[in-house]
Amino acid sequence: MRDGEVIGEGFHAELGDLHAERAALADCRGRGEDPAGATMYVTLEPCAHQGRQPPCAEAILEAGIGRVVIGSDDPSEKASGRGPGILRDGGVEVEFAAGEEATAARLLNQPFRKHARTGLPLVTLKLAMSLDGQTATAAGDSPWISGPESQALVHRWRAESDAIAVGIGAALADDPLLTARPNPSGAPFAPVGDIKRTGTTRQPLRVVFDRQARLPLDSQLVRTLDHSPVLVVVGQDADSARTAALRDAGVEVLVADRIDAALSEFGRRGITSLFLEGGRTLAAAFLAMGAIDESRTFIAPLLLGGCASRAGNADSSRAGGAVGGTTPEEALATAGGGGSPAATGPARQVALSRDIEQIGDDILITARFKEW
Ligand SMILES: NC(=O)c1ccc[n+]([C@@H]2O[C@H](COP(=O)([O-])OP(=O)(O)OC[C@H]3O[C@@H](n4cnc5c(N)ncnc54)[C@H](OP(=O)(O)O)[C@@H]3O)[C@@H](O)[C@H]2O)c1
Repeated sequence: MRDGEVIGEGFHAELGDLHAERAALADCRGRGEDPAGATMYVTLEPCAHQGRQPPCAEAILEAGIGRVVIGSDDPSEKASGRGPGILRDGGVEVEFAAGEEATAARLLNQPFRKHARTGLPLVTLKLAMSLDGQTATAAGDSPWISGPESQALVHRWRAESDAIAVGIGAALADDPLLTARPNPSGAPFAPVGDIKRTGTTRQPLRVVFDRQARLPLDSQLVRTLDHSPVLVVVGQDADSARTAALRDAGVEVLVADRIDAALSEFGRRGITSLFLEGGRTLAAAFLAMGAIDESRTFIAPLLLGGCASRAGNADSSRAGGAVGGTTPEEALATAGGGGSPAATGPARQVALSRDIEQIGDDILITARFKEW
């Protein structure tokens, strides 16, 4: 910015791409402007280390920027104030934002911040429910409870996530694709080989928590491996023939008895955000681990009653229900790889903050349980 005018803008589009500062400087020069003496506003402190990209602090000094206003600190060990220090030593005026701007910048970067501090992905739980608290529809009915506007939002959130996860109950009942589709009613999506930005739609890694390796080889997930990858988390005692068949079909199989072990492995792979799409039993297991950072719950204006669920068990759609021999109570006990609900502590968690908005005919409640 100079004299109240924006002379360049930039953002970090993707891992390995130009960082926001260098992108903004390139944009500024591309507009025929000289950034010397201007003020740069950044949401995250400029880096000082050589990674996939050269250090941003260096580019800012070279450009002769006069003042840098920083929205939030970078909690990574390799950063933590080094960039701002280098800038100050180079004669740049450095200021950290406070109040609302600082909070907004921190919230914008939650996946990055959690991964930097813990090595784990940020977990966001999405659920849709009816006015009578049902999360599953009847056999033969559409699996969607929320309306088209909410569904479009879910597809956008998928595209913003590094990975999407469901339990095998949801995978068996709904046979979902779990891809991010700009037009949820069935527009084709671009094929990808990895977690990559493809055209306009970024496809996340699709994950199924499936201890017994029950995912059918003819499921939509397995049949669309050429579009985006699928990873199945199985237990140590999963049937070896079924595990081998999944591997032969091109599915990646991760052996992890505990949710936290799977999350650590995702973090090691650079997955910073996991979008957890249910069902309820897996959600209860994540909750028991204290692994849910944020939830996004749609309440749709309809009643579903105690209909026989698509998962073949009416009770599974309600809190306290059972599927495939696992009740949420059992999930509580096994989520940590053993122990009892008492040992893992109560699952009840109260939100730090919440936001309520109307999306089409639905109500969306966004609740944050942890802040990084
Ligand atoms: N309204 C919504 O937002 C929404 C979202 C998704 C699904 N649904 C509906 O919900 C129903 C499915 O939900 P659900 O609760 O029955 O099943 P679920 O949560 O999708 O899957 C539960 C299964 O996941 C497996 N699992 C793997 N690791 C686990 C772990 N650490 N802890 C607990 N379970 C683990 C267990 O089977 P194994 O022991 O065999 O591994 C368990 O039976 C369907 O009817 C679907 O349509 C609704």
